[in-house]
Amino acid sequence: MTMTRRQAIKTTLLAGGVLTSSGFRNLQGQSPSPGGATPPAPAPTGPFKVPPLPYAYDALEPYIDKETMTIHHDKHHAAYVKKLNEAVAQQPELGQMEIADILKDLTKVNEAIRKTVRNQGGGHYNHSLFWQMMKPGGGGAPQGDLAKAVAGKFGSYGDFKTKFTAEAMGVFGSGWAWLVLNGKELAIEQTPNQDSPISQGMTPLLGIDVWEHAYYLKNQNRRADYIPAWLNVVNWDFVSERYQKAMT
Ligand SMILES: [Fe+2]
Repeated sequence: MTMTRRQAIKTTLLAGGVLTSSGFRNLQGQSPSPGGATPPAPAPTGPFKVPPLPYAYDALEPYIDKETMTIHHDKHHAAYVKKLNEAVAQQPELGQMEIADILKDLTKVNEAIRKTVRNQGGGHYNHSLFWQMMKPGGGGAPQGDLAKAVAGKFGSYGDFKTKFTAEAMGVFGSGWAWLVLNGKELAIEQTPNQDSPISQGMTPLLGIDVWEHAYYLKNQNRRADYIPAWLNVVNWDFVSERYQKAMT
């Protein structure tokens, strides 16, 4: 019998002790609290920490499923942080800095670990934003100054959605599509892998993770299904706050 990719992932997790017959466990071996409370972030092993999800794993259902959120946060994000911590152990002063400040100028990072910090640090920074860029009951359209700026730049929110979706669909392989501020001007950008617009001098406002790990369990290869679903959970309040702060 052919094993589907979903089954294969589950088998791997069972073998690794992550998925039990009674459900997922977080990295500290505790079952998620029923109904809502977000479990604590994985045990610290270095200066950088995985931030807790600001909502329950299942809070974005039916658009983003609990299983994807659990693996994405507890396994993928945790792995970026673990590898980032391992790298900065070779240059401990980096552990005293904010990850955003490191990524803004990667020339501060010793060449021996620069690629690792770019990839793993980018993964940590991008995902830390990503959890906050979503919320239960999100979606809709931006309001206030950001709404005016979006309309001014793209024509309408609908036009923005069309362009943003096209850019997200067009990311070849793994990467992100972003609404950014480039200077004081809105733009839509792509980044490959875990590169962040902040390393190119831009301010990321909204970003969609189009790595397959963000949608494969629910949507398999259908990125075209994931993107409109994801737009239903966008936290425009958070995006607007970032916009206002960057414009002042
Ligand atoms: Fe991701």
